[in-house]
Amino acid sequence: TIVPVILCGGSGTRLWPRSRKAMPKPFLPLVGERTLFEATLHRCADPEVFARPIVVTGAEHVEHVEAQSAPGTAIIVEPEAKNTAAAIALAAYRLPKDAIMLVCPSDHHIADLQAFTDAATSAASLASDGWLVAFGIEARKPETGFGYIKCGARLGDRSYRVERFVEKPDLATARSFLAQGDYRWNGGLFAFVAGKFIEELASHRPQIAALVEQAVLSGRDEGGHFHPDAEAFSKVSGESIDYAVMENTDRAAVVPVDMGWSDIGNWVALREACASDDNGNVAPSSAELVDCRNVMVESDGPRVSVVGLENVTIVVSNGEILVTSDAGAQKVGNLAGAKNQ
Ligand code: GDD
Ligand code: MG
Repeated sequence: TIVPVILCGGSGTRLWPRSRKAMPKPFLPLVGERTLFEATLHRCADPEVFARPIVVTGAEHVEHVEAQSAPGTAIIVEPEAKNTAAAIALAAYRLPKDAIMLVCPSDHHIADLQAFTDAATSAASLASDGWLVAFGIEARKPETGFGYIKCGARLGDRSYRVERFVEKPDLATARSFLAQGDYRWNGGLFAFVAGKFIEELASHRPQIAALVEQAVLSGRDEGGHFHPDAEAFSKVSGESIDYAVMENTDRAAVVPVDMGWSDIGNWVALREACASDDNGNVAPSSAELVDCRNVMVESDGPRVSVVGLENVTIVVSNGEILVTSDAGAQKVGNLAGAKNQ
């Protein structure tokens, strides 16, 4: 079976004022009834395919994780955030060397559950052959916030060697990748055998591997959760798995998958993931929209009425009002309100 390792670090300032430090993006029901975190657990809930999950998170989120997961869910509590290479390594050192890990971000939306399960199964079988497997999402625009994967030689029915992995390229580079056509976005999900990940981490970032191992060896169980040793963990350098391992390893493979994936990176991405009316609007039934297209409305109280606008988001939440154009959505996280929440 596959062990889901759920990463819960996130803030999500670009979804301010809905997403707040105290109640960030993964724990909010942004698309449908479930929160993004609950939906992530739900995707990995089939006991025929998946073992029980391990959640890696910070102390500030433990309460939300407990409230939104099954009793007894394994939680590793990071003494501080040290980015994804270290977070994943914590789980890897806690698991048997031959366990197949499926690393899942907790703040993404995936519309097609069957496509996800099929891809996870293919990825797990590649992982057991010693590959570090990424999930390749069809690249739709020259997004600079993603990793890009160049597919190389065919490995199996639906998998390829990674010829190149480039994390967060600049705009010109991202454009050239799109023009070349054989690049996919990295979906932020990974599959590998725990021991293989540790081996690759130790070879490319020996300092992270050694310190995380020490933090796990000197860690303790408390309150039903595992707490790695804070002193050892504090010395770890914070780097993402993408830069630390995926760009450097020559054992990377990719499973291309079209599963209606979105990282819900901003209000426009959220609108696109939600069910909209014929005019592309997403709004509560209390709102009144006249001559509007592609308008998103959210409100936790006041009734919102909008006339004659296109490609706009209006959010009333937690005593704040946000109005942004689609073009501005990416900059919401720079607002003073979002930064000083
Ligand atoms: N537990 C824990 N601790 N989780 C963390 C930490 C940490 O220190 N840092 C990040 N995470 C979690 C986030 O909550 C998120 O679920 C996931 O790990 C990825 O981190 P992000 O910070 O969201 O990464 P990113 O979006 O910049 O880039 C990654 O995801 C893209 C797809 O959304 C990369 O993998 C890119 O290559 C990829 O395209
Ligand atoms: Mg992200």
